[in-house]
Amino acid sequence: MKIHETAFIVSTYRSHYKEVSKDCYAQLWNNSDTDALIADILKSVSAHEAILHSIRNRFFYEKMNAFFGKNNGGTLINFGSGFSMYQFSFSNNVSTIEIDKKGIISYKKEKVDHWIKTGELPHRDIQYTAIDFNANTAAEIVVMLQPMITKQPTFILIEGVLFFLNREITNTLFSVFNQLQKSRDLLGAVTYLPEVEQTPVYKRLLHYFDSNNDTNDSFLHQTLPNSYLSKVKGYKVKENTDEFELSKIYAPKHKIRNKLDILNETMYILEKT
Ligand SMILES: C[S@@+](CC[C@H](N)C(=O)[O-])C[C@H]1O[C@@H](n2cnc3c(N)ncnc32)[C@H](O)[C@@H]1O
Repeated sequence: MKIHETAFIVSTYRSHYKEVSKDCYAQLWNNSDTDALIADILKSVSAHEAILHSIRNRFFYEKMNAFFGKNNGGTLINFGSGFSMYQFSFSNNVSTIEIDKKGIISYKKEKVDHWIKTGELPHRDIQYTAIDFNANTAAEIVVMLQPMITKQPTFILIEGVLFFLNREITNTLFSVFNQLQKSRDLLGAVTYLPEVEQTPVYKRLLHYFDSNNDTNDSFLHQTLPNSYLSKVKGYKVKENTDEFELSKIYAPKHKIRNKLDILNETMYILEKT
């Protein structure tokens, strides 16, 4: 498993439940290699992964759509953006800055430019920048991103990424966010709480990554306690919830009975003070 494959996997999950995820463009990234990996994950880790990732996308879609609607546009700064497609569902007064590793960013730009040309995607104002969070200091990242922000307010998203980073890099990124944002801007983040580590399903996930690891890619498995997110310098918690709770709203038919049976991620919306 390579780190870019995780981006294909989550975008394919979203395409399985478009009515839940609200990502009607996710299927553009589907491919047979990813389908084969997903069949294995749903069988050997958890059958609920596709619906949970669709719920996660829906949560951030709703939050960002409301934020940009209220503010008549702004900038989405997507850290570890993978193949997420939010901007195409927002109105075109929203600009997007896509940040990920070089391979993903150049592949995404090439494909998205092509689909805009063929009319499969609507035109949007998108800037792409390749950054490896493990290889740059906070000051370097701020210098790269600051000039790209031309439309206020900003919504920073870090979705499905913190799991792969260590604590030092996580601290670096939260310091970057604090330097880039202004009062009342929002930050969306996802993490596994440490409690999840004790569940059999999480152990199966780690086993899956360990048995399919690629030596050239970093597969850390960070969890962050609620106390970390509630004490981020420069921010206050505006909202937090988890996929189990949201499943009752967005996917009631799925009847997920016990949060310990699923890979339950916790979502935070932080507001810059
Ligand atoms: C599971 S995917 C999530 C993608 C997207 N945020 C989503 O939810 O669809 C994780 C993403 O984090 C990116 N990522 C992981 N480590 C990174 C690093 N050190 N620097 C930049 N991007 C990184 C990967 O390349 C990948 O696109």
